[in-house]
Amino acid sequence: MQENFLNYNINIYCGDSYKIFDNLQNDSITVDHIITDPPYNISKDNNFNTMYSADRHGVDFGEWDKNFDLLSWIDKYISLLSPNGSIIIFNSYRNLSYIIERLELNNIEIKDILVWQKSNPMPRNRDRRYVQDMEFAIWGVNKNSKWVFNRPSNKPYLRSFFQSSIVSGIERTEHPTQKSLKIMQEIIKIHTNKGETVLDCFMGSGTTGVACQKLGRNFIGIEKDKKYFDIAKSRMIL
Ligand SMILES: C[S@@+](CC[C@H](N)C(=O)[O-])C[C@H]1O[C@@H](n2cnc3c(N)ncnc32)[C@H](O)[C@@H]1O
Repeated sequence: MQENFLNYNINIYCGDSYKIFDNLQNDSITVDHIITDPPYNISKDNNFNTMYSADRHGVDFGEWDKNFDLLSWIDKYISLLSPNGSIIIFNSYRNLSYIIERLELNNIEIKDILVWQKSNPMPRNRDRRYVQDMEFAIWGVNKNSKWVFNRPSNKPYLRSFFQSSIVSGIERTEHPTQKSLKIMQEIIKIHTNKGETVLDCFMGSGTTGVACQKLGRNFIGIEKDKKYFDIAKSRMIL
């Protein structure tokens, strides 16, 4: 029997996460999980003409990925987590140690690092560097909590290694760093239960929300860029 996932709540906001936080706090909102993909601050101004040039010297996803304050949002949003809550933050390998340190200062116990391995990474400086075929996410839980870890009974253990191609075809939107829906669904199935609430305070094109909606989780999403917000809105059934 098909479940009616439209019974689950999807609340998305177009605005700055720092400002929307005050509204959520005033409304005493709590969430079971934060699963988010904030800017990585890895963009550099470029003069290349095509994203597909193998000789390009860096990436430029847009102004939103420059001078982003990587850490202060953590102090605020952790306060919304329920006692058995968990947090998963995607980021560049360059920033992992800073984010881990900040999470630990907020009483989060780091459990593992998840790896998304891309089967078709973009070419880059092929002669002198490795291609960038991996992205990482930090998984932490509230200290002394009973965290969710849904290991399917037919698997003796789970690897922290998720594989998919970079997003293409009908799934692809105009968002330059759109996450794979397949990966987000796999992560959400393992780390959250049906009916729980997941927050993504940097939702971009809304991939986390789409995965939540498909899997029967409530979702709160925030995106400050109206163009990306509208894309996210169009991908969810509201
Ligand atoms: C890495 S992208 C998220 C991509 C997303 N996972 C997806 O699949 O499309 C980060 C997003 O955070 C947004 N952003 C940056 N600063 C923000 C802020 N202060 N409040 C809300 N959104 C913000 C950017 O506009 C960008 O779309």
